[in-house]
Amino acid sequence: METSGVEKRRGVVLVPCPFQGHITPMLQLGWILHSKGFSIHIAHTKFNSPNPSNLPHFTFLPLSDYLDGCDTSFHNLLNVMSVINTNCEAPFQEYMMKMVGEEEVCGQPVACIIYDSIMQFAEAVANRLKLPSIVLRTTTAAYMHSHNVMFQLLAENLVPLPAESQLEAAIPQVYPLRFKDLPLPATIEIPQPVLDFLHSYMDIRSSSAVIWNTMDQLDHWALQQLQQDWPVPFFSIGPFHKMAPAIPTSLLEEESGCLSWLDKQAPNSVIYVSLGSLAIIDEKKLIEMARGIAKSEQPFLWAVRPSLLNGSDAIKSLPEDFMKITQERGMVVQWTPQKKVLAHPAVGGFLTHCGWNSTLESMCEGVPLICMPCFSDQLVNARYLTYVWRVGMELENAGERSIQEAIRTLMVSEEGDAIRQRALHMKREIERSINEGGSSYDSLYRLVEFITSLPG
Ligand code: UDX
Repeated sequence: METSGVEKRRGVVLVPCPFQGHITPMLQLGWILHSKGFSIHIAHTKFNSPNPSNLPHFTFLPLSDYLDGCDTSFHNLLNVMSVINTNCEAPFQEYMMKMVGEEEVCGQPVACIIYDSIMQFAEAVANRLKLPSIVLRTTTAAYMHSHNVMFQLLAENLVPLPAESQLEAAIPQVYPLRFKDLPLPATIEIPQPVLDFLHSYMDIRSSSAVIWNTMDQLDHWALQQLQQDWPVPFFSIGPFHKMAPAIPTSLLEEESGCLSWLDKQAPNSVIYVSLGSLAIIDEKKLIEMARGIAKSEQPFLWAVRPSLLNGSDAIKSLPEDFMKITQERGMVVQWTPQKKVLAHPAVGGFLTHCGWNSTLESMCEGVPLICMPCFSDQLVNARYLTYVWRVGMELENAGERSIQEAIRTLMVSEEGDAIRQRALHMKREIERSINEGGSSYDSLYRLVEFITSLPG
């Protein structure tokens, strides 16, 4: 399906949201479209900028975001996104006007703008310049649909729930979610600015299509539900990282030494632990995790990024006795080359926060998961992993004993073995979807045709 014969590459402008879990799929999408004959321009904030020298095939358009001095920690994310949306619109419009003006000179007309659903300023500029725009959704459709469910429950005054004990209850008519799986807490009043943000995040406004980093067979029902509200073409072409070659997208330095350590471990023996790029835990939970991992008696590799503990270096906060055990049968690093780690034969399980990229990366390698969701889509992903796709285990709570038992069950029990077999089956299903005749393969073909047919 290579279309490298396209003579004049049409330009596609991509606007990623500047967080790891969002930048990665957008850059991967850029690579996929580049391999189909488009020229790729990345309009990005200066904050968390991707490294242009890693991706010499793309051009980069840095946008002044005026975030210097702003608190960009997890607790201030809503504000950060609002500052970006306010400040990046003018510089982005300037770039786009220049590109449109130069089209005739360089012979590369802009086909469309593809923007992360959080970067709404890009859609405003596209409208003003009468350019088509396409939204990228970096999560599952099931997660997006869960917001509709939440809005409905709010409208019917069914949330906030009067008591914590009701969190375990199933939500009527929304298989398979329980109140505790909703992306926002169901027992408290949600602040209005959060609801306002979500309402606009859920809207695709005037965009011509939606691209999803998901697969039809995983997310079919929710895709159908959303299609009723959004009557534009959907292209589910995930998992992006398997549709593109391994391109460097990490914002933090990867510590590749852990791969040589994995080389020395027995097949399927290591539990890999990571809570992704954004989640924050407190010191008590960090220590409980450490004790649970240590008591499981399995070899482990743990990615403890510096910002995991709000404000203090997480690795330095690990107890001394745990660090001693690490020397005997584990490894702790700040940031791993995760896709390579999950593809390593020594890795037999993944204790994860269930961010969607991590989830996909694990399922693609047939690695079963222990689900420790922290917020938002992670809760919905965890429910699907454990209850629908059945390739993961639910943690009873994130306490020491529950972590210890879950690791033992996953790594050395018959129950764990059954989950591993299902994970391997899932891996093969995903492979089928990206190969010729598979749903993601076909969807990508339709996406390329769609972009090519946009008026230039
Ligand atoms: C955020 C949200 O937390 C997540 O729920 C949403 O789906 C996307 O945005 P994040 O916390 O970054 O994501 O998690 P995830 O989606 O899993 O992305 C993390 C990325 O960082 C993955 O691609 C993973 O491979 C990479 N990673 C993580 C590393 O390369 N090394 C590490 O040590 C840890």
